[in-house]
Amino acid sequence: MASPIVHPVFETVTGTWQYIIADPSTLAAVIIDPVLDFEPARNAISTTTADSLLDIVAQNSYKVAYLLETHAHADHLSASRYLQLKLEQPTNPETGIGKRIVQVQQTFAQKYGVEQSEFEDVFDLLWEDNQTFAIGNLEAKVVHLPGHTPDHVGYLIGENIFCGDSLFLPDVGSARCDFPGGDAVQLYHSVQTLFSLPPHHKIYTGHDYPSGDRNDPVPYTTVAEQQERNKHLKIGTSQEEFVNWRQKRDAGLGEPRLLHQSLQVNIRGGRLPRNGMLALPLKGVKEVGNVKL
Ligand SMILES: *[C@@H]1O[C@H](CO)[C@@H](O)[C@H](O)[C@H]1NC(C)=O
Ligand SMILES: [Fe+2]
Repeated sequence: MASPIVHPVFETVTGTWQYIIADPSTLAAVIIDPVLDFEPARNAISTTTADSLLDIVAQNSYKVAYLLETHAHADHLSASRYLQLKLEQPTNPETGIGKRIVQVQQTFAQKYGVEQSEFEDVFDLLWEDNQTFAIGNLEAKVVHLPGHTPDHVGYLIGENIFCGDSLFLPDVGSARCDFPGGDAVQLYHSVQTLFSLPPHHKIYTGHDYPSGDRNDPVPYTTVAEQQERNKHLKIGTSQEEFVNWRQKRDAGLGEPRLLHQSLQVNIRGGRLPRNGMLALPLKGVKEVGNVKL
């Protein structure tokens, strides 16, 4: 199997790595975790970032077969639906996400009052664990990597795994595990799955937050580098040590800035609410005495 061509594209506002991966022999391609821009001050959607992905696709004459999500993101909106509508080539690409998205959709639909008809069947493909599919002459494999969210998957393509929010760069560490259905024990095991790959395989991450003496975002490190240097979880870190630390850390983290907007759009597969409205749970003063304000 030839090596895939990988275009990592960084979205700076949410620190998200998006990927276009192509088969050099057929130009068949997939896009992983594309971002739809959202400006909270105006509640405005825009497509500058997604359009930059379309430019790369057009410049390279790629034929996009699939728009892939690693999970229901809680920090940015998905551009999968927008890209699906824009990419008529002549068939529109299919969207795919791990099958446990159904559980995540139920949880958040209930919380935000989203009608079943707005999130049912919004993804074309719900991947089974270890399911394989073709990208031209390349083979991709779906690897269940729960912990950050229950539906979370990685995509193994050649000697590369796109691990979403499982591991970040070694100096950033690991993803939070406190969203509904998240679980630090599961994340520990998912990282062991990543560590069982050959040492030279590349782990491409879903986000980067460079700081300190590192200024530029970096899309991947090798399995060996992660095993040696990941600051939260390397070879020799015990499950107990990691889980205790992760739970304590998560208890002190605030909400992602676009949490509610992201989840309400992402459980709809990147579609917007039909009535054009997003729900925002209120905090702060909500009662006077025992009487609701
Ligand atoms: C997927 O593959 C892993 C690792 O080979 C294995 O442990 C697991 O049982 C497989 N799951 C399914 C549903 O085949
Ligand atoms: Fe995430």
